[in-house]
This record gives sequence, structure tokens and C-alpha cells, in this order.
Amino acid sequence: MQKRITKAVFPVAGLGRRFLPLTKASPKEMLPIVDKPLIQYAVEEAAVAGITEMIFITGRTKRSIEDHFDRDLELEHELAEQGKRELLESVRSILPRNCHCIYIRQPEALGLGHAVLCAQPVVRDQPFAVLLADDLIDASPPTMARMTSRFEAEGCSLLGVEDVPREQTGSYGIVSAADAKADVTQIHAILEKPAPENAPSTLAVVGRYVLTPAIFDLLAAAKPGRGGEIQLTDAISALLARERVLAMRIGGKRYDCGSKLGYLKATVELGLRHPEVGREFAEFVVKRGR
Ligand code: G1P
Repeated sequence: MQKRITKAVFPVAGLGRRFLPLTKASPKEMLPIVDKPLIQYAVEEAAVAGITEMIFITGRTKRSIEDHFDRDLELEHELAEQGKRELLESVRSILPRNCHCIYIRQPEALGLGHAVLCAQPVVRDQPFAVLLADDLIDASPPTMARMTSRFEAEGCSLLGVEDVPREQTGSYGIVSAADAKADVTQIHAILEKPAPENAPSTLAVVGRYVLTPAIFDLLAAAKPGRGGEIQLTDAISALLARERVLAMRIGGKRYDCGSKLGYLKATVELGLRHPEVGREFAEFVVKRGR
């Protein structure tokens, strides 16, 4: 099995119910944080990790994601004519250099596990990354780069984790690990969205995974799990019986941009640091706070 991760899977076919009515006709992955959509942050994080093949698992209403990463020669021409060099560069660099996109349609939203399985014809027998764009992670070094380099050393699957309050375990895959305090630790068990009283720990999987291709057979064999969906967590649970799987702390700040509150927090914090508007926005926020 190759040790370098060159492929990343972005499941973007989800229905985004928590953001209705906005997500009726628009993908939640295109929600902007100041001036870039969530999916662009995730693609940039993958590119920094050396990943070059970006595989999107898309569905209905997701066309704007494809348009976003395509070149728009008319727009580029116009910006060039008007001498708007910075804007032109920002449009040209939406897709990081040397990267290319592959789109696979998930015909029905049958769950995260099913979405990942849709990538098998392209990923084949190579290890790969999965990034969930609504988990926006602000970390230095970026989380996925740490995960892929650890994969090169260990050769086994890795899940990005962080501690969550016990009352929130029902929103996450929760792992039971050898040393819950360590930066990297071996996973013994994983449960999808356990109630607080049944959760083996408060160590939650957030949307970053590096997986070995052994996951595909397990996904293909998985029965519908929680919510009647094919769950990635259930296939990882089966993988634990065959291979070592590690949990790695994400080492930064995560914003749950699939929730309104998490999205607003990300907008404010990244807005405050934005090179163009950050200073004035900070003044505004301070005035409002008085
Ligand atoms: C999914 C996974 C869950 C994971 C979470 C991270 O859940 O099923 O195990 O902890 O992403 O964001 P979702 O948020 O899609 O319900």
C-alpha cells in the first residue's frame, strides 16, 4: 500500500437540514466565511497536506460547487482588462495549483458511509483522506497535514478527534481510546452518536479521517445503522477488528459550521482577522458590545 496520501474525498451531498430554508436550493458547503465558501477552506487544507486529487461526492442542488472550482475565463478576462490583479489572482487560485477535481454523483443521500463508498472506483486500493467541510478547523500546522504525515509513519487509519461536553456526545462518533489525554492514541471502540449516559468517553470524531482502502469492503457490507443510514462509524468499528486505528487530536480550533451558532462564531472570528476588513469589523464589534 502506498504511504503518500494524494486523494481526498469531500462528501457534499448532504441535505443540510440544520440550515433550512437556505439549503433548499443551495449547498451548505458554499456558505461563505467572509469571502470564501466552506468547501474552499477544506480543499485548501487538503492541498497543504500534499493532496492533489479532490474527489467530491455530490448530489442534487450542488452544481455551484463544480462551478466554483471551474475556471471562469470570461470573468478572468474582464478582471485582467480592468487591471484588477488581486481579484484576478484570488479567482485563479480557488483551486490550488497542481490539483484537480473529480465529481461523483451520490444518487441518494444514504449516509456518510455510503457517500465515502461512492469514491471507491476512483480511490481503488489506495489510502485516502476524508474531509467534512462543515467542520472548519483553524490550526497551525493544519490538521490534515499532521494526519497525512503521521500516516506516512504509521501506515494505519487515523481519525481527527477533540473533547466535547458530555451532553453533546449524541452529535458525534465517540471513541474509546487507550489514552484519552494523549495527542495520538489507539482506538479500541467507536460508537455513532451515543447518548451521554452510554458514551464510552467524550472524545469525538470531527470531520477529518485518513483511511486505508480496507474500509471499502466494510462499507459495502455495512447494514443501515443509526437513522437508517450507512454509517462510516460502523465500518470503522468493523475495521478495528482487522487493523490498528489511531485517534489524533486536531490541535486547533474547530467551528461546527453545520450549526448556525458555530457558523456565526467562525464568521466573527475569521472576520476579525481578515486583512481587508478585520480592523474596522473589530471596531464595530467593540461598539456593539458596549
Ligand atoms: C458525521 C459522522 C460523525 C462525526 C461527525 C463530525 O456526523 O457521522 O461520526 O462525529 O460527522 O462532524 P454528522 O455531523 O454528519 O451528523
